Amino acid sequence: MKNFETLLTELSDGILTITINRENKLNALNKQLIGELNEVLDEVYNNAEIKSCIVTGKGNKAFAAGADIAEFSGLTKEQGVVLAKNGHQVFNKIELSPKPIIAAVNGFALGGGCELAMACHIRIASENAKFGQPEVNLGIIPGYGGTQRLVQLVGKGKAMELLMTADTIDAVCAKKLGLVNEVVQTVELLETCRAMLLKIKTKAPYAISKVIECVHAHFKDGIDGFDTEIDRFSDCVATEDFKEGTEAFLDKRKAVFQGK
Ligand code: COA
Repeated sequence: MKNFETLLTELSDGILTITINRENKLNALNKQLIGELNEVLDEVYNNAEIKSCIVTGKGNKAFAAGADIAEFSGLTKEQGVVLAKNGHQVFNKIELSPKPIIAAVNGFALGGGCELAMACHIRIASENAKFGQPEVNLGIIPGYGGTQRLVQLVGKGKAMELLMTADTIDAVCAKKLGLVNEVVQTVELLETCRAMLLKIKTKAPYAISKVIECVHAHFKDGIDGFDTEIDRFSDCVATEDFKEGTEAFLDKRKAVFQGK
């Protein structure tokens, strides 16, 4: 895989770990980083060796402390449109990835960092993780999907509160709200994510990709998620993996899925 300046990548056991590599800026998401993330995601979509992903931040202080505020000064309305659209496109690509993506949140996940974590399918946090959408402190609102995904994860009332107060919450509070799936000790963070992805890797990959698609169908305007489920269920029935899964059960053996 190509080398990136703002991201580190490591592929092991089919799991691609993407590490945001701007530790001295608390992994703030600048334009270059969003572009490089887009390129890595193309690789995730197209490289058959990659079965799943972990997104994390370099160091033990931050997952990502937001969009890079240094790039904000002098931003025009037109440039604001481009910035937000780029971010939306890349974060949607994470959300709609047919392969599972887990955010390993290892410190501050503020602003765009919280939005990045929310775009991932699952969030596991270390004990020192902190979450928040502090944009109103800067005179803006979240621009990478935060106003929408926060509502989806924690509900309208709490989302309103977090977005308007700009409060930062700790990992335990984030778990209570449903913003994160699990809180673990910092030393166990990556291993916990890996273990979950290795478990998912034993399941039928096509079915996993359809789970992701159907869950997101729930949130898409003009789409009936129940209809999507019927369609995708029948697509799964037509796969070799379905034949293998059912035969293996009846033969009392472990299924070996080929992703076909
Ligand atoms: N954009 C650009 N640079 C950022 C950044 C961001 N979102 N967050 C942190 N940094 C930089 C700081 O400017 C500093 O750089 P410097 O050493 O060159 O001065 C470095 O990262 C370390 O941050 P610092 O603020 O000194 O660390 P801290 O431990 O005192 O505070 C935070 C940590 C997260 C509370 C604080 O950095 C912060 O509030 N960051 C901005 C959060 C935010 O508003 N995000 C939403 C953006 S839309």
